[in-house]
Amino acid sequence: MSITSFGRFPDDAPSDKVPSEKSPLNRTNQKITTASLRELKLRNEPITCLTAYDYATARLVDEAGIEMILVGDSLAQTMLGYENTLSVTMEEMLHHVKAVRRGVKRGLLLADMPYGSYQVDDKSALTNATRFVKEGGAEMVKIEGGEKRAELIRRIIEAEIPVCGHIGLTPQSVNVMGGYKVQGKELDGITQLMRDAVALDRAGVTCIVLEGIPREVAVLITAEVGTPTIGIGAGPECDGQVLVFHDLFNLTFAAGAKFVRRYGDAAELITRGVREFRADVKTAQYPRDEESIICRRRRRLGWRR
Ligand code: KIV
Repeated sequence: MSITSFGRFPDDAPSDKVPSEKSPLNRTNQKITTASLRELKLRNEPITCLTAYDYATARLVDEAGIEMILVGDSLAQTMLGYENTLSVTMEEMLHHVKAVRRGVKRGLLLADMPYGSYQVDDKSALTNATRFVKEGGAEMVKIEGGEKRAELIRRIIEAEIPVCGHIGLTPQSVNVMGGYKVQGKELDGITQLMRDAVALDRAGVTCIVLEGIPREVAVLITAEVGTPTIGIGAGPECDGQVLVFHDLFNLTFAAGAKFVRRYGDAAELITRGVREFRADVKTAQYPRDEESIICRRRRRLGWRR
């Protein structure tokens, strides 16, 4: 075990890392709730959402002022190295949600329901959604699918759990879609997306993720529904934007999708640091005297210096 100190939260003092922007929410460092999302939409202020999967990144993302923090099932690939999101289990998701919970103070914590946790029957879906709240400390769950999930979503909301919908390119449907394909390119698909969005809105979701759909369709949906839309590969007119943390910082070992913008190269930074550490150890440059713990009785132990 390391004896390195791991920083705790500075009591309840506002974090100076939260950018002071015009929004009253940012100025007060106020806790983000489902009501804040509606408020942001009404104020026409874009909502920000990023994934986080562990304590350290959760703190960084939260303290930078991101409003929604999603423990996405994308962790199946980014953190666990699975080929797609289908294999990740409730237990694995819960493990990460709990870690992120410990790192998030201000943002709204959203847990992704993994494949198989809500498709089998409503009872187990409710049980699993409840576990994310009770054991994981999540404040909202995300479910993929539109019209066909509306009834289940209503039941989960009745159980006092806010739900985020997710339509368009839904990665859990990869086998049915025959790959990760942009949705809503033809009239049939557009009509279905509109029906899905309206069904989720009527079911009472807190927000809807629109993934991998043409910008023009996202505009239509955003104008049609009262609930905030959060886009990923859905253009700039959505009420908010979500991206995968690992995509922002080149941590996916793959080329990013068209809609990904890279904000840094953590892979390069980490690789360089790790190589330098290795070289320092191999050449006896690390640790130096000042990086060693010196025994006060060293002379007695036969040390001259
Ligand atoms: O799992 C995930 O990261 C997601 C986002 C891409 C919306 O569902």
